[in-house]
Amino acid sequence: MAPFWPVELKHNNIVLRPLGFRDRRAWLKIRENNKNWFKEWEATIPGEFNAKPASFYQVVKNLRDEARSLRALPFVITVDGFLAGQVTVANINYGSTRSAYIGYWIGEEFAGRGYAPLAVAMAIDHCFKSLKLHRIEIAIRPENTKSLRVVEKLGLRSEGARPKFLHINGEWRDHLIFAINEDEITGSLVSKLTNS
Ligand SMILES: CC(C)(COP(=O)(O)OP(=O)(O)OC[C@H]1O[C@@H](n2cnc3c(N)ncnc32)[C@H](O)[C@@H]1OP(=O)(O)O)[C@@H](O)C(=O)NCCC(=O)NCCS
Repeated sequence: MAPFWPVELKHNNIVLRPLGFRDRRAWLKIRENNKNWFKEWEATIPGEFNAKPASFYQVVKNLRDEARSLRALPFVITVDGFLAGQVTVANINYGSTRSAYIGYWIGEEFAGRGYAPLAVAMAIDHCFKSLKLHRIEIAIRPENTKSLRVVEKLGLRSEGARPKFLHINGEWRDHLIFAINEDEITGSLVSKLTNS
């Protein structure tokens, strides 16, 4: 069984590995090149808190602190060794919940080749098999048709709407909730996805 964290997960040319300070140059470049691609779907801080966007150093530091206590698994997605995106398992809760959220993005130059669904499937398999979580949840804006395809491909269950659930692109936005429980998967989600 893979260790919980830090861990590297591989499937053919796709690798999920911990986001680190060494990713600075590639991360800043892909984020800058894809500003418009992300804008509509990007989490923001409500204006009254006057927060500046976090620096790369702060992003990595915060995620590493969370990862150290196994409250988050911040993966970068690499394709043939190139940084293509991120999959972040966050808000991991243990006790009688054993659940987490997953968020993801991929650069436009890597889009449309099924990398995000595969990377999310790899992360979910890891959460269920190694971390022994019970439930994974993904929240998506109803307008985000590309992301809705990701959960559709993965076969996540639709659980309805949460009005004004997250602050995205400057406003509180309605979201649709999708989830999967560990006992809904026979074998692995990666094999289900790649054999479908
Ligand atoms: C959502 C996202 C992660 C999907 O990643 P991906 O690796 O391209 O996923 P897929 O290859 O399965 O493509 C999903 C859908 O996106 C659409 N799509 C793919 N490439 C596209 C492109 N270049 N331009 C516009 N739409 C595109 C297609 O409708 C595709 O569905 P299809 O395979 O049935 O044709 C990616 O589009 C992204 O990062 N978007 C911006 C950030 C974001 O929305 N994150 C999720 C927040 S919930």
